[in-house]
Amino acid sequence: MIVLGIETSCDETAAAVVRDDRAILADRVLSQEAEHRPFGGVVPEIAARSHLHHLDTLIREALGDAGFGLERVDAIAASAGPGLIGGLMVGVTTAKAIAMASGKPFVAVNHLEGHALTARLTDGIDFPYLLLLVSGGHCQLLAVEGVGRYRRLGATMDDAAGEAFDKAARLLGLGYPGGPAIEQAAKGGDATRFPLPRPLQGRPGCDFSFSGLKNALRLLVGRLGALTDQDRADIAASFQAAVAGSLADRTARGMAMFADLYPAARTLVVAGGVAANTALRAALADTAQGRGFALIVPPARLCTDNGAMIAWAGLERFRLGLVDGLDFAARPRWPLDPGAARLVGAGVKA
Ligand code: KG4
Ligand code: ZN
Repeated sequence: MIVLGIETSCDETAAAVVRDDRAILADRVLSQEAEHRPFGGVVPEIAARSHLHHLDTLIREALGDAGFGLERVDAIAASAGPGLIGGLMVGVTTAKAIAMASGKPFVAVNHLEGHALTARLTDGIDFPYLLLLVSGGHCQLLAVEGVGRYRRLGATMDDAAGEAFDKAARLLGLGYPGGPAIEQAAKGGDATRFPLPRPLQGRPGCDFSFSGLKNALRLLVGRLGALTDQDRADIAASFQAAVAGSLADRTARGMAMFADLYPAARTLVVAGGVAANTALRAALADTAQGRGFALIVPPARLCTDNGAMIAWAGLERFRLGLVDGLDFAARPRWPLDPGAARLVGAGVKA
């Protein structure tokens, strides 16, 4: 079974081909980073136009890498939400057009399900497992119980983890995207020079919050005035340590909640762009080891947005008979778990 996957929900245009034996036959990702950098963040209109400009070629290249044409593909999957609606519409419309022209089924994939199932593509793990999803738009702990079956244990009350990195980088004048810039700057820094708060540390539940930390950072930068490169490095290191510490603390609580639900399951998966952060990986490795959990972090290029995760999630759905009609509309908000509507209403991102 072979599936073509398309990803256009944010600022990566991606197309990939995967097979049901977990082989990635093609995996093309085109980053729009340079186009958005002058604006210090993703500009939705620029993103949509760029997806439109590049997607056809990228799909052709992906099929070229796989070494066959559409006739060998069993289904066409596209990221259909959550994300920036203009980009989502480009990907979904393209996938539907290919599906219609080739007579193959179309599978609408929840972008978050793509991240959530990546560890089954890379490591072949079984359900259930605990997932820490940390990206530019999302920060949540989920029990992944099966395809389409997610139980949210905790989520951010304000910013996503990646968003916090991006805002901190902007405050320090380190540019966009913030996560890699902070990690780079932190390499020469002293994480103990400026103690910053670790949000919600020790508090019950496993929700997240980054607004207090962001505020503390803003006050610190204001107090210091003109920053030297060493100041920047020390602040970046302190900030990274605070985020990693907070995420590890909340995840430890999530592990306890997960262990109550599934006493025999002991796997923690980390996904999303922030999972590329080495300080976070180290903190989570400690936390997992102390609690007898195996830690699985997919390779960085499969943690950040990519087409292989969409193709794989599409394949998992398709082989269960879950296909979608050509009337399926892309949606900017699309929570993974049914209980999330209430949280979305309270201002939490989908
Ligand atoms: O998953 P992703 O590629 O896109 C979304 O679906 O959001 O995640 C992008 C986010 C950005 O906020 C970026 O700053 C962050 O992941 N990120 C990192 C690192 N690499 C990417 N954050 C911390 N450390 C990194 N090395
Ligand atoms: Zn993502």
